[in-house]
Amino acid sequence: MGTWRTFDVRGAAAEQHARAIVDAALAAGADFFDTSPMYGAAERVLGAALHERRNAAQVATKVWASSLAEGRAQVERALGFFDGIIDLYQIHNLLNWREQLVLLEQERDAGRVRTIGATHYSPAAFGELRGVIETGRIAAIQIPYNPLEREIERDILPLAAERGLGVVVMRPFGEGALMRRAPADKQLAPLRPFGVTTWAQALLKWVLSDPRCHVAIPATSRPERVAENAAAGDPPWFGAEERELVARLAA
Ligand SMILES: NC(=O)c1ccc[n+]([C@@H]2O[C@H](COP(=O)([O-])OP(=O)(O)OC[C@H]3O[C@@H](n4cnc5c(N)ncnc54)[C@H](OP(=O)(O)O)[C@@H]3O)[C@@H](O)[C@H]2O)c1
Repeated sequence: MGTWRTFDVRGAAAEQHARAIVDAALAAGADFFDTSPMYGAAERVLGAALHERRNAAQVATKVWASSLAEGRAQVERALGFFDGIIDLYQIHNLLNWREQLVLLEQERDAGRVRTIGATHYSPAAFGELRGVIETGRIAAIQIPYNPLEREIERDILPLAAERGLGVVVMRPFGEGALMRRAPADKQLAPLRPFGVTTWAQALLKWVLSDPRCHVAIPATSRPERVAENAAAGDPPWFGAEERELVARLAA
């Protein structure tokens, strides 16, 4: 699950609502949570919502800093929010990645970070992302992927598969744009045998049916949508025909 915007909240009622979203996620078996210091209060709010359930979750956060000093301060804060351990620490938008990578390697060697990754949202940066992958020093990437944003198919996904990287998919609904033009229910009928009853599930299963993609992180502000989204994480997976149908419906 993503937390951009949805977890950048303040005040008891809003934070209680964030906790309800986390409750729904864990109850539905969705245990991977992505956040960042770029998302305002989201890291702190997610940490508080997980609280005693920290061990039931996999936390992916990011370092997003031009300077090493700010990077260090962000890592210290995040370790405070998440009980001293980060499952996946990513370099956000590759910002100052050479220095931040050394920092994250030190944290990993000290046992406070399990895995190091890198993220970018823009195809203009995919050349640089390829270079980071080719250093052999990261184990995961986070990139956008949905039927209308397929640039990673050209060389990022093949390279990630060749190198055995974990692939986290941001923006499975195109920041919500794909949800505003949902097809009619009857157009989804061929997808029912795959457990798909909603357009959100069709889009998530479209992502996860590519064996090179491992985690999709849809964000929602509505607890009742979490179980709907999580259900798309179970097989059976789409074949080429179903993926083409979803791409046609999205176009
Ligand atoms: N966007 C980026 O550039 C970017 C960059 C780096 C990382 N990320 C990470 O990736 C995560 C996901 O990307 P995203 O938040 O940009 O967009 P997204 O997950 O593609 O779309 C989120 C939107 O989809 C709606 N939605 C969620 N579930 C739904 C459902 N079942 N039915 C109908 N609408 C549904 C949400 O509205 P409701 O709240 O009303 O449900 C929200 O407006 C982020 O939260 C962040 O952790 C994003």
